[in-house]
Amino acid sequence: MANVYVTRMLPQEPLDALRRCHDVDINPHDRPLTREELLREVRGRDAVITLLTDTIDGEVLDAAGPRCRIFANYAVGYNNFDVDAATARGVILTNTPKVLDEATATHAWALLLAAARRIPETERFLRSGQWAGWGPLQFLGRDVDHMTLGVAGAGRIGSKFAAKAAAFDMRVIYHDLQPSPELERTCGAIFVDKATLLRESDFLSLHLPLLPATRHFIGAAELAAMKPTAVLVNTGRGPLVDEEALVAALRDKVIWGAGLDVFENEPRLTPGLAGLENVVIVPHTASATFRTRLAMGMTAVDNVLSVLAGKPPQTCVNPAVL
Ligand code: GLV
Ligand code: GLV
Repeated sequence: MANVYVTRMLPQEPLDALRRCHDVDINPHDRPLTREELLREVRGRDAVITLLTDTIDGEVLDAAGPRCRIFANYAVGYNNFDVDAATARGVILTNTPKVLDEATATHAWALLLAAARRIPETERFLRSGQWAGWGPLQFLGRDVDHMTLGVAGAGRIGSKFAAKAAAFDMRVIYHDLQPSPELERTCGAIFVDKATLLRESDFLSLHLPLLPATRHFIGAAELAAMKPTAVLVNTGRGPLVDEEALVAALRDKVIWGAGLDVFENEPRLTPGLAGLENVVIVPHTASATFRTRLAMGMTAVDNVLSVLAGKPPQTCVNPAVL
C-alpha cells in the first residue's frame, strides 16, 4: 500500500477507488491548503492529487521527497505545475483532458448567450422590482444567429465549442499556432491570423493554454482592434486577458460585453469589474457538472493507480520522465 495525499475533497467514487488500493489522506478543510500546509502535507507521500489552486514547484517537489512518483492535477490546465522542475526530478505530472471538453465548451456558449442577451443584467433588474412592463426598446441585445464566431485555440475544447456554432448558422473563424484540418472539415472553420480574428469576430472565445507566450493574449491593443459590438468569452485561464484593460474597455464601450469564467488573480476580481452591467461573471465553474467532476476524479485516480503499479499514466504532461 502506498500513501496518497489529496489536497481537497473530491467526488466520492474516485476517492473510494483510491482507498481500495492505498492509504489516502485528504485535506479536511473546505478551502485550498495554505502554502505551509501544502509543504507539510506532501512530505513522504508516494503520490499527490492536486488542484489548479496548488502551486507545485521545486520547493513542493523537494518537500514531498524522493518517494513521490506523481503529482496528478485534477484539472486539464496545468499552469500551476513547474513542469521543468518535476521533469528534472523524475516526477510524473498528469492532468485531466478530454473528460471536461464538452462541459467547458457548453459553458462558454452559456456565457456567450447570457452576455449577448443580457440575461444576468435583466434578471437583476426584474428581481429588483423595477420592471414596469414590456417595452420596445428595453434591454436590446446582440443577435447570435448568422454572426461571425471567432475561436482562439483549436484544441479539443475550442473544437467542441466551434462545432456547436452550426446550431446558430454562424461563420466560424479561428486562430492557433497551426491550422486544424479537423476543425475545418467538421465545421467549415476558416483559419485566420490574429489581426483578422480580432477585427472580424462578433463573438470571440478563448480556448488557449496559459503559457508565457499566451499571457495577455488580449490586452488594450487587442480590445481596441475588436468591433465595438463584439463580445469576448474566456473559459481558459484568467491571465490570457489583461483584466485591467478589459475593465476599461467594457466601461468605455470599446467592446460591447464579455462573459468570464476565469480571472487574472482568482479569487480576487480587478476593481470595477463586478460593478459593470455588460459583463457576465461566474466563479470558474466551466467543468462544474456532476458527471464531469466525477470523470475528472476518475482520470486523476487512474493516473495515480497506474503509476503506483509501475505502469505509464494515461494522460502525462511530461512524458520525458517515463
Ligand atoms: C479548469 O480550469 C481546468 O483546467 O480543468
Ligand atoms: C414579443 O413578445 C412578441 O410577441 O413579439
